[in-house]
Amino acid sequence: MATRQVGLTETVLRDAGQSLIATRLPYDKMEPILDKLDSAGFYSLECWGGATFDVCLRYLNEDPWERLRKLRAGLPNTKLQMLLRGQNILGYKHYSDDVVRRFVRASVRNGIDIIRIFDALNDVDNLRVAIEETLAAGAMASGTISYTTSPVHTLDAYVAMVKELQAMGVSSICIKDMSGIMTPNSAYDLVSAIKDAVPELPLVVHTHSTTGTGFMTYLKAVEAGADVIDTAISPFSGGTSQPTTETMAVTLRELGYDTGLNEHVLYEIADYFKPIRNAYIDDGTLNPIALTTDASCLEHQIPGGMLSNLLSQLKMMNALDKYDEALKETPRVREDLGFPPLVTPTSQIVGNQAVNNVLAGERYKNVSNEVKGYCRGEYGKTPAPIKPEILQKVLGDEQPMTQRYADTLPTDIFEKAEAELGDRATCEEDVLSYIAFPQVAEKFFADRKEAQERVVAYSIKKVEE
Ligand code: CO
Repeated sequence: MATRQVGLTETVLRDAGQSLIATRLPYDKMEPILDKLDSAGFYSLECWGGATFDVCLRYLNEDPWERLRKLRAGLPNTKLQMLLRGQNILGYKHYSDDVVRRFVRASVRNGIDIIRIFDALNDVDNLRVAIEETLAAGAMASGTISYTTSPVHTLDAYVAMVKELQAMGVSSICIKDMSGIMTPNSAYDLVSAIKDAVPELPLVVHTHSTTGTGFMTYLKAVEAGADVIDTAISPFSGGTSQPTTETMAVTLRELGYDTGLNEHVLYEIADYFKPIRNAYIDDGTLNPIALTTDASCLEHQIPGGMLSNLLSQLKMMNALDKYDEALKETPRVREDLGFPPLVTPTSQIVGNQAVNNVLAGERYKNVSNEVKGYCRGEYGKTPAPIKPEILQKVLGDEQPMTQRYADTLPTDIFEKAEAELGDRATCEEDVLSYIAFPQVAEKFFADRKEAQERVVAYSIKKVEE
């Protein structure tokens, strides 16, 4: 029997950093290690999308598009991968199809090979346009399941979703376990079911080490037929990040799988990132608690990020005594709202409403605009129907929409943004940055202009001297 191949996707440039240091790794700390990352033999390198775009503009004074072009130039032999929130692109609300298509085309044009496309509700109508455009642009579209557990998230339901993704022509399927709640046994069953249903499609599994099951989950997923797993190089692995790259590479090799990795290079990459990780611990960017195991999520299924949000909200309202109540209220709200997976933006929507409910002392007395939008259908179809009495309480006599929300949006968003920006935008990419994060992009453009003027003034002075 031929050795089975299992690929590893390295996440140190995206999810690992997003999970541990709030995405603060600047490009200049990536550059010195790009040649080693490029020669390690990864299936792909996740390096863009998710929160990187916003953080580049907002905190790092970096043009995310320029970062992508530099990564492309420095990583000529490795597939570059990004995470895209379907119809939300990289933001928190839906955009019109034209914007989604332009964003996908620009991402591929600037260097992306694989786009992992997910939707917080697993509504495939929110994935369709991004998948179609990714494939049309000649890149790989990874159709993604946001993994969660609930009475309606059965193996059959997941298989039905995968079949729809297959019909859209996806290049691979990804199971995205964003909060690390997928146990080894569930992974085995789900991977087996998907592999039975669509054996020709590569299957990628993504988890986090949050609850401590990650390594075992990957092993059982691979045993069941998973083709690719997401891991992080050791200094940025564990805890809320991914299981460790080197550890999985050695384990899989010993078990007879071919990872195609140059293990010696992996240790060199780890040596490079160790002092960087330590500096982030020293300056407080990386809280060492994030590197530890928190198994509580296995009981209450509330992701770690949501727990810290609940805590900080209650703290702000001087209501920390309501923490246990808010913790119990969260799964009730989730059930009321049709069991959405808890991932951006649904985790915030559910969490905030749970806090509102316990603070007001009456459920759904105070309803956020996001919950209203959610009940109207602005985020798509919910996994189970929203409870009728909740719908009535939130919307009154207003009827939820029956069409896709993106179809109700104006179709001239791009042209309007282009006109608003005038010569502050120098390319289509600038306009897309502005559409995704208007205020942040405007400030970035202003700073960029000022810096350019300084350079010009300096060189004129040089010439005069
Ligand atoms: Co993740």
